[in-house]
Amino acid sequence: MPSSDTTADAVSAAEAGEFVLAGELPVRRMGFGAMQLPGPGVWGPPKDRARAVSVVRRAVELGVNHIDTSDYYGPYVANEVIREALHPYADDLVIVTKVGAFRTPDQAWPSALKPEQLRRAVYDNLRGLGRDHLDVVNLRIVEEAGGLGPSDSIAEPFGALAELREQGLIRHLGVSNVTAQQFAEAREIAPVVCVQNEYNVVRRRHEDLVRTCAEAGIAFMPFFPLGTFTLQHEKDPATDTKVPRQVPLDAQVIHAVAERHGATAYQVALAWLLRHSANICCIPGTSSPDHLQENIAAAGLRLTDTDVKELDALHEGGDR
Ligand SMILES: NC(=O)c1ccc[n+]([C@@H]2O[C@H](COP(=O)([O-])OP(=O)(O)OC[C@H]3O[C@@H](n4cnc5c(N)ncnc54)[C@H](OP(=O)(O)O)[C@@H]3O)[C@@H](O)[C@H]2O)c1
Repeated sequence: MPSSDTTADAVSAAEAGEFVLAGELPVRRMGFGAMQLPGPGVWGPPKDRARAVSVVRRAVELGVNHIDTSDYYGPYVANEVIREALHPYADDLVIVTKVGAFRTPDQAWPSALKPEQLRRAVYDNLRGLGRDHLDVVNLRIVEEAGGLGPSDSIAEPFGALAELREQGLIRHLGVSNVTAQQFAEAREIAPVVCVQNEYNVVRRRHEDLVRTCAEAGIAFMPFFPLGTFTLQHEKDPATDTKVPRQVPLDAQVIHAVAERHGATAYQVALAWLLRHSANICCIPGTSSPDHLQENIAAAGLRLTDTDVKELDALHEGGDR
């Protein structure tokens, strides 16, 4: 199953089934996250631009019709690569972008949640992607540099995006990195079609939000779906900047399940998400053609009830 086979019989993202956003925008539940397309630290040009472009094209060839991005990946780089790869866009392609932060030369991610900053970010995404409207925009709540914390109201920034939606620049809105209370607050202002918080087989502190979204017919699009990063950041002595710490999927049970299926631990992590709740849409991020194919092949991995029972019992100390 972890093959780097590039022939026509590779597994299609369609195997994961669809979720219909807002009752009108179908997305295959196996999508693609664009954050790994820029250079290291999500900064600057890709090491190999032609390869980055080909990864995006290959994702679509393999049936992906949902790409998650942001103009602050690079900055600008991820959107430019998507545009080069796919413009003019297929009618069924759904690009979900996010606003709420910007990048500084020290590669930090300070907040940009003021209405004027959000308006500018929406126009930057429109320009970068080469579109006249954005399918879905997530408001990403960022604490850094005077941003908003978990107990703060998000009414002002979400209201600003709701106005842009009313003006037709945005078709649908989502929220990212929010508490249940902030999610509820946003829904009072305008319809929310998706939520993007950190969640994966080993980190499930947003389990209640997954359920609430499922009951309301709202998609949950977890970031770090492969569980390869944590939100803890470490200082990189080489660049003196803070970078996310990469951790391996080291739970023995995941490897045991993977072995039973001749699959990889990453495929098991994705298959578990797809099986766990029908509103979960996966957006694994990669810059590698082989990893891309491996991740999409997880759409065809059917976990048994025994697998699921074992994986459900997994938890990371106090983080459920
Ligand atoms: N809203 C937010 O705050 C937020 C935050 C983070 C991410 N996101 C979104 O969520 C998407 C997914 O998150 P992510 O890309 O950071 O994390 P991820 O999908 O959990 O993991 C990506 C990392 O895993 C590696 N990887 C991918 N497939 C692999 C495989 N089959 N085998 C081994 N390694 C593999 C990638 O390296 P290679 O490139 O070498 O494959 C990369 O280092 C992003 O692309 C982005 O669109 C949103």
